[in-house]
Amino acid sequence: MTQDELKLAVAQAAIAYVVEGEIVGVGTGSTANFFIDELAKIKHKIKAAVASSEVTAARLRSHGITVLDLNEVTSMPVYIDGADEITPQGAMIKGGGAALTREKIVASVAEKFICIADGSKLVDVLGKFPLPVEVIPMSHAVVARKLNALGGEARLRIKDGQPLLTDNGNMILDVHGMQIHDPLAMEAEINNIVGVVTVGLFARQGANVCLLGTAEGVKTLQF
Ligand code: A5P
Repeated sequence: MTQDELKLAVAQAAIAYVVEGEIVGVGTGSTANFFIDELAKIKHKIKAAVASSEVTAARLRSHGITVLDLNEVTSMPVYIDGADEITPQGAMIKGGGAALTREKIVASVAEKFICIADGSKLVDVLGKFPLPVEVIPMSHAVVARKLNALGGEARLRIKDGQPLLTDNGNMILDVHGMQIHDPLAMEAEINNIVGVVTVGLFARQGANVCLLGTAEGVKTLQF
């Protein structure tokens, strides 16, 4: 099976977690895009969606799905999104698509985080995938020095020759070479660095369920 077939399989499996008549939180990335296209097939059964990025909002709207501002929403049963890495305990690295802050915010309103990922994302120790950290632009150099002092090598994410700007107008530092044995502690430590908006570690509020695409079928991990 190709990686795209695995992503499609988990996206289809995630539809079973969508609650009829309710609002769905929707993530960002290639796996989330498969999910959005599946969600479009049952759009008459949901109330609306909340998007974790401008790209996701545009894709939802292109299917005729109503997208609500999070400030209008007080609860949602599920948030469904991909991950860059996930551990057998449900801690994740996210932000490869630079949407980590809005992802964490929308996920914080949801009762359950349903992670959809192909099997290559399951790791014992987080950190092989460079850890994204969203920072206020004026602080990127000082935050990079502090991240380097934690044992990583922080690199400013560049796109088309310029620092990439997130939907929030901030920059991303990608921290290479980390081995994150205690994701909860590391999330708190990086969150405490002045200038950091969000760290792409989702451990304090990790996944509740992971639908993992494998050659043997979709496996369901519960945390
Ligand atoms: C977006 O910022 C990320 O958190 C994505 O959820 C993550 O990068 C997974 O993306 P793919 O589904 O494209 O692998």
